Amino acid sequence: MSFYTFEPATARLNRSELAVPGSQPQLFEKAAQSDVDVVFLDMEDAVAPDDKEQARKNIIEALNDIDWGTKTMSIRINGLDTHYMYRDVVDVVEQAGERLDLIMIPKVGTASDVYAIDMLVTQIEDAKGLKKRIGFEHIIETALGMQNVTEIASASKRNESLHFGVADYAASTRARTTVIGGVNPDYAVLTDAAADGSRDVHWGDMWHYALARMVVAARANGLRPIDGPFGDFSDSDGYVAAAKRAAVLGCEGKWAIHPSQIALANQVMSPSDAEVDKANRILEAMTQAAAEGKGAVSLDGRLIDYASIRQAEVLVEKAKQIADN
Ligand code: GLV
Ligand code: MG
Repeated sequence: MSFYTFEPATARLNRSELAVPGSQPQLFEKAAQSDVDVVFLDMEDAVAPDDKEQARKNIIEALNDIDWGTKTMSIRINGLDTHYMYRDVVDVVEQAGERLDLIMIPKVGTASDVYAIDMLVTQIEDAKGLKKRIGFEHIIETALGMQNVTEIASASKRNESLHFGVADYAASTRARTTVIGGVNPDYAVLTDAAADGSRDVHWGDMWHYALARMVVAARANGLRPIDGPFGDFSDSDGYVAAAKRAAVLGCEGKWAIHPSQIALANQVMSPSDAEVDKANRILEAMTQAAAEGKGAVSLDGRLIDYASIRQAEVLVEKAKQIADN
């Protein structure tokens, strides 16, 4: 390990994160009853300019009055380039800060954006005597945010997670998309001709680089990388495929823009019984190996070593978090 250490973010289950427009209070109860890990009540892009003020009021009321159980509660504030943002922070933290766990900052572009909100939240917490420190979730969804993702990730002790906002990222980079979070058939490799002259088209994942870059910045700073929205909520297979790709890269959660996506995210982002069982067997085999003075042994015909222990521990820890939830 490096001599450099970092403090890991507050541990939370973040397999699924449900977007709920603040302008639609009729959806709040259902969100509170759902199996989602994190709810974010939105004041930004799901809310029209004329509804912003009412949405803010709805959210304050909902945080104070609805029983959200053990869910992690977040609000998505408006961007720093709008005049809504300061009131989103001031009003909601002042009036409902006790039940607020996280603030989601959209279109974050630089470390200074984070610093500005940190200062504001710190003053409100102090003035109100709030005991619990509110954490930050950042949506990496612009070319600027991606360029500065490393600095953003380390810009505040409040930072907990980075989210890939694929819809705005596509707009910002002028990517040619089809549906939000979907893949584009033009991002493909054409194989060389086979003996019979036929050629195959292999679709690629146009989001791979962006997501992988964000995962590295998040993990290098002890934060959770979370994959963002998948727009076609009637396509559960497409959602699961996207969630699996994100999980394979290291993401530990994915957004749900519709309640039907919650169970899918929870399932993909939870280790299976077989995986946990294997992890426990790896830990047992390595304990035995250590007792015999060996650094590496074989299990089921495969080499395992100290790196396998660390991977197994991550899995077992995640399973414990889920069981304790
Ligand atoms: C989320 O905010 C996105 O733009 O994808
Ligand atoms: Mg966005």
